[in-house]
Amino acid sequence: MSLIKKIKDYYKKPNSLLFTTPSHAQGNFVIPKAEQILGTEYFKSDFSEIEGFDNLRAPQNTIKSLLKHISEIYQSKASFMLINGSTSGIIAAMLTVLKDNDKVLVARNCHISVYNGLVLTGAVPVWFTPAYDPHWGIYKGVKAADIELYLKHNKDIKALIITSPTYEGIFSNISEISEVCKKHNVILIVDEAHGALLNFGPFKSKPAIQLGADISIQSLHKTAGGINPSALLHISKSSDILPQNVQAALNLINTTSPSYPLMADIEATVNYLYSSKGKNHISSLLKYIKHFKMSLPHGIDAYSDNNDPTKILLKFSAYNADNIAEILNKKFNIEEEYSTEKAMLFITGIGTTSNALKHLLDALKAILNEADISSSLTNSFYLHQIAPNMQFTPRTAHNKPKKLIQKNKSAGQVCGECIIKYPPGIPLLLPGEIIQPAFIPFIEKDEILII
Ligand SMILES: Cc1ncc(COP(=O)(O)O)c(C=O)c1O
Repeated sequence: MSLIKKIKDYYKKPNSLLFTTPSHAQGNFVIPKAEQILGTEYFKSDFSEIEGFDNLRAPQNTIKSLLKHISEIYQSKASFMLINGSTSGIIAAMLTVLKDNDKVLVARNCHISVYNGLVLTGAVPVWFTPAYDPHWGIYKGVKAADIELYLKHNKDIKALIITSPTYEGIFSNISEISEVCKKHNVILIVDEAHGALLNFGPFKSKPAIQLGADISIQSLHKTAGGINPSALLHISKSSDILPQNVQAALNLINTTSPSYPLMADIEATVNYLYSSKGKNHISSLLKYIKHFKMSLPHGIDAYSDNNDPTKILLKFSAYNADNIAEILNKKFNIEEEYSTEKAMLFITGIGTTSNALKHLLDALKAILNEADISSSLTNSFYLHQIAPNMQFTPRTAHNKPKKLIQKNKSAGQVCGECIIKYPPGIPLLLPGEIIQPAFIPFIEKDEILII
């Protein structure tokens, strides 16, 4: 049974009176300023678990059959709707497979949610840093051979967590990595937050659960057209992980009032992506992007090595990408996802039109044609290359008392908070990590917490 149909049928039900939460009572009264932003329709489908609408915590009917439908589309053992983004899926996956003091191999370029999962599980991280590409200022994919070495030297590792594709779209070879994990009896969790289109188009990598990962987590809101923070968690058919354990982990962290408009949006998004219209939409998008990249003028390169083409990463042979981004913003009202002095990232997806790409191309050409771009290339140091020097595990660091000190006096102290830059949401310094002097200039506030 479709949740969307259930909602629409409910609209038509005569004289239904709701004495339940939420108290706007299906839009009987909408706070006027909220109505200006959301309209009235939204409120009609925003209710709690009324008769027949099932319960996300223990699905029995409507939600259960929707989840089965999603799982069939994704060819998973089980799939879960995430109503608090990939963040909640990553934490739930970790709570499912990791217990206090379990060892877990974690890539240093993981998203903040992985660090939060370490605090909540009490698991002990073994850090590794994927190779770094200094020309583009990004991490490369994770190599199976490196994972093999770590697993050989740390026999008691229970799980591996990696991001593929990365924020910049770089794929790791999940097939090879999963073979190594299976050999060492290690569970593989893939943060595929940026890979929600992989199931529906001709990409350089298949979805992680089809390549041997135990669990993958995908944000539908990032590239696939869903609203914030719609996402999915999938368990692979070949995994021993019990769906009931994932449900229990999600129930630990989820609200008891999930948003029905959000769940309806997940249903609509998945059905659209799976339809021939959706698949054609994705292949058109890929064509537009290919055309855009081929039309780039001399002096601009697009990253093209083993990556997801929907992530457009550009580099300028003569200019600092940060400076170009500023001009794009101020003069052309075009906002990039992020830029460093090395490169600039544009995230595309279901909402990207060929016209928008043409606009971007014209703007870039116009900027390069300007005689006086004040821009210089420096050779800055990229801090994430440094493996963290941890004094305490994330859980222990979280539980320790903290005090504030001037950042300029913090060298050699143990950091007491997550110092993080958005985007990309990868921590610069972690709680429990010894602060190395090179990091201090990159801290964007005067005082920080130490342990
Ligand atoms: C690599 C990666 N993983 C996970 C997340 C979290 O996703 P969400 O915003 O859906 O919680 C992000 C968000 O930026 C991300 O970049």
